[in-house]
Amino acid sequence: MLTFKRALVISAAVLTFLFIFRSTHSSPRPLTADSLPKPASLTKAHAAQAEQPARQETTDPPKAKPNKETTTWKGPSTASIQSPKKPKTQIPLDELHKRPLREQLDYQFPYDVESKFPAYIWQTWKYTPANGKFEDGFREAEASWTILHPTFVHEVITDTVAVHLMRHLYASVPEVLEAYNALPLPVLKADFFRYLILLARGGIYSDIDTAALKSATDWVPQEVPRNSFGMVIGIEADPDRPDWAEWYSRRIQFCQWTIQSKPGHPVLRDVVANITEETLRRKAEGRLTKDTKGIIEFTGPALWTDAIFRFFNDPEYFDMSSSKGNITWENFTGMKAPKKVGDVIILPITSFSPGVRTMGAGEDDDPMAFVKHNFEGSWKPENERHVGETYD
Ligand SMILES: *[C@@H]1O[C@H](CO)[C@@H](O)[C@H](O)[C@H]1NC(C)=O
Ligand SMILES: *[C@@H]1O[C@H](CO)[C@@H](O)[C@H](O)[C@H]1NC(C)=O
Ligand SMILES: *[C@@H]1O[C@H](CO)[C@@H](O)[C@H](O)[C@H]1NC(C)=O
Repeated sequence: MLTFKRALVISAAVLTFLFIFRSTHSSPRPLTADSLPKPASLTKAHAAQAEQPARQETTDPPKAKPNKETTTWKGPSTASIQSPKKPKTQIPLDELHKRPLREQLDYQFPYDVESKFPAYIWQTWKYTPANGKFEDGFREAEASWTILHPTFVHEVITDTVAVHLMRHLYASVPEVLEAYNALPLPVLKADFFRYLILLARGGIYSDIDTAALKSATDWVPQEVPRNSFGMVIGIEADPDRPDWAEWYSRRIQFCQWTIQSKPGHPVLRDVVANITEETLRRKAEGRLTKDTKGIIEFTGPALWTDAIFRFFNDPEYFDMSSSKGNITWENFTGMKAPKKVGDVIILPITSFSPGVRTMGAGEDDDPMAFVKHNFEGSWKPENERHVGETYD
């Protein structure tokens, strides 16, 4: 009954959230590490709800275009990111559903680079740590996230709860829900879940077999203004060898086992729209199979990596007039220090893949090592899902 109770608690929190959202017509200010006190006697979900800071005024003036130089901090020089936000007008739901999917998502989950990173840590697994069946091998890793982030709300969402949570978060975007429900394998749902939860709520997603080595508040140097970036990603693979394609699907591959984002980020919007459209197309053609081949391209790291490069080279977000050509893998290969492209921080391979003893990654005690991926529960048929390196 535990999972059902949790589902109810989370649903209640989400419903309250939606209600407040609807009744103010303004973007709720997300939780932040600074503003959220440690949940004491309340359940975590209740704490998240109770400590929701005051809403912004409904009459916020349109924001001045942030003049963001991407070159300021060890970053490759691209152009400045343009502010895509127009003043928001209320669109009736039946009208909204006629709009393109990306527009619907943009409307439901607006992005504001000036907002704070929500203090959430999201993980998914078959069981919560409160369940006796929760694997002992994951306990220490799971606990490390809580210990290093005492002011964050940390949730391990089970598959059952995820279904309820998605139903509430995406009630107004039925295509997304249809796609989520249609995905025939838990591994696909687990991939989709991370993008969906971060698009809607933001925070950190991390696989259940990852351990936190450093607090997320220290991932990016303090001198980088927090309102100048909205997403933090790491490099999974940088195989500098001629036969790299036998091992990896992209020459530079970004991790999707750990992602930090503010809600509504355009990369997430693109990924969610892509998976939704692709899933519904396959469903219509009767091609949604339980075949595990192709997951990496369908919902996994290849798709994620492509979406990030698509964003970096998208004239809708970047002023290309001053940029020196496209951003490609060459801009990230061999990097030892973080880079910033537009509003995205890219951490070197050591940060989320320390100790892999290859591709130039440093060890676990390297100052740049932030998250340890244990690659423990590699994809197994009996798990019917993956954690870690599941694809090769
Ligand atoms: C990306 O790399 C290319 C080739 O190495 C270089 O010419 C270009 O200036 C780099 N772009 C940025 C934005 O750093
Ligand atoms: C989704 O992204 C992939 C690139 O990873 C692309 O090949 C595919 O055409 C996209 N699908 C849709 C429906 O946009
Ligand atoms: C950059 O990418 C765009 C779209 O992928 C392509 O049309 C263009 O030719 C590329 N430009 C360069 C200089 O490679």
